[in-house]
Amino acid sequence: MLTAKIQKELNSQLNKELFSAYLYMSMAAYFQDVDLLGFANWMNIQVKEELMHAEKFYNFIHERGGRVALEAIEKPLTEWASPLTAFEASLDHEVFITKSINELVNVSLQESDHATGIFLQWFVTEQVEEEANTTEIIKKLKLMKDFPGGLYMIDKELAGRTLVMPATAA
Ligand code: FEO
Repeated sequence: MLTAKIQKELNSQLNKELFSAYLYMSMAAYFQDVDLLGFANWMNIQVKEELMHAEKFYNFIHERGGRVALEAIEKPLTEWASPLTAFEASLDHEVFITKSINELVNVSLQESDHATGIFLQWFVTEQVEEEANTTEIIKKLKLMKDFPGGLYMIDKELAGRTLVMPATAA
């Protein structure tokens, strides 16, 4: 059984994961528009991952006898000044999500809800990967910025990203 406070916080995180998908879909559309189809592919995979994150919260709330209550999803930006700006915005967003997950872990401890704490551990680990993946691309974009064809090379690499489903579902 979930406390009212935990249920509210889990629903809030579900909304943030849905916004993450919405934000990355908007970035995918931006990359599509500027003909960087590899970048668009990378972002579209990110959208699917975020929807999977949202589904984990949806399922967990129900498993614990709670009630999912969907809220409005914030409108994302639609334009960025450059691929680097978009990825920097993506990293800022992931840092925000990491903070939000950590705060949720704190609330689960305050409420002595250890099942929620264990459920959240998957997300704690996932956020390390989320920040690392985005940081790696930012580094490449900075490294290649003065190199002719650098953007094209990164685009080609990002075209190869495929969706990897997690081995264990939280
Ligand atoms: Fe669901 Fe990118 O964090």
